[in-house]
Amino acid sequence: MDTPAVTVLVLVGSLHQGSANGKLAQLAISHAPAGMTLHQYAGLAQLPFYNEDIERNLPANVGALREAAEAADAILFVSPEHNGTIPAVLKNAIDWLSRPVYGSGALTGKPVAVIGAALGGGGGINAHNDTRRSVTVALAHVVADSTLAIPASAAAFNNPAHLDRLLPQLTDVLTRVQDTINQRAPK
Ligand SMILES: Cc1cc2nc3c(=O)[nH]c(=O)nc-3n(C[C@H](O)[C@H](O)[C@H](O)COP(=O)(O)O)c2cc1C
Repeated sequence: MDTPAVTVLVLVGSLHQGSANGKLAQLAISHAPAGMTLHQYAGLAQLPFYNEDIERNLPANVGALREAAEAADAILFVSPEHNGTIPAVLKNAIDWLSRPVYGSGALTGKPVAVIGAALGGGGGINAHNDTRRSVTVALAHVVADSTLAIPASAAAFNNPAHLDRLLPQLTDVLTRVQDTINQRAPK
């Protein structure tokens, strides 16, 4: 019997047009391995800041984010680094996804990979590591060896030679996510 296709929700930590991380997310979507479908969540800019008061009367877009995360087999965070850590837009999404009750949020047990691009020489590694730490506290499962930190983000996606080097690394991360999902209990 064929292994069923797996789905991955992509959360991008940059909101502007022409974002390097948006481009990286699109590369991941268009170069997904066979048997894997990725789709980017488009509503992060409209999420309110996490607030326990409004959680009691949950905004529809928070519910939509949680449903999208629950429905996905894994989550791929694609993130720049802002002042040495996670951009607020992604941290806010993590906070919403970790609730309403600790231990039963949409991140619980969910395979997660974190990749991204940043201007500095570290390629956003501090933000990526902080994202891994944060989702681990929220009980997600960080996929082993699923790192990709791309420096000099402003130029990284304009150079075909860079892309030729990047694509095998991106495929490696996506394949590790796929293998992790497939090694778990069948849906
Ligand atoms: C508020 C802010 C803080 C930043 N802090 C860092 C940083 O700590 N390290 C770094 O490498 N780049 C930093 N940058 C530069 C980003 O890495 C760069 O803008 C990157 O391309 C963002 O990716 P994007 O095009 O997907 O937004 C910062 C940018 C902004 C807007």
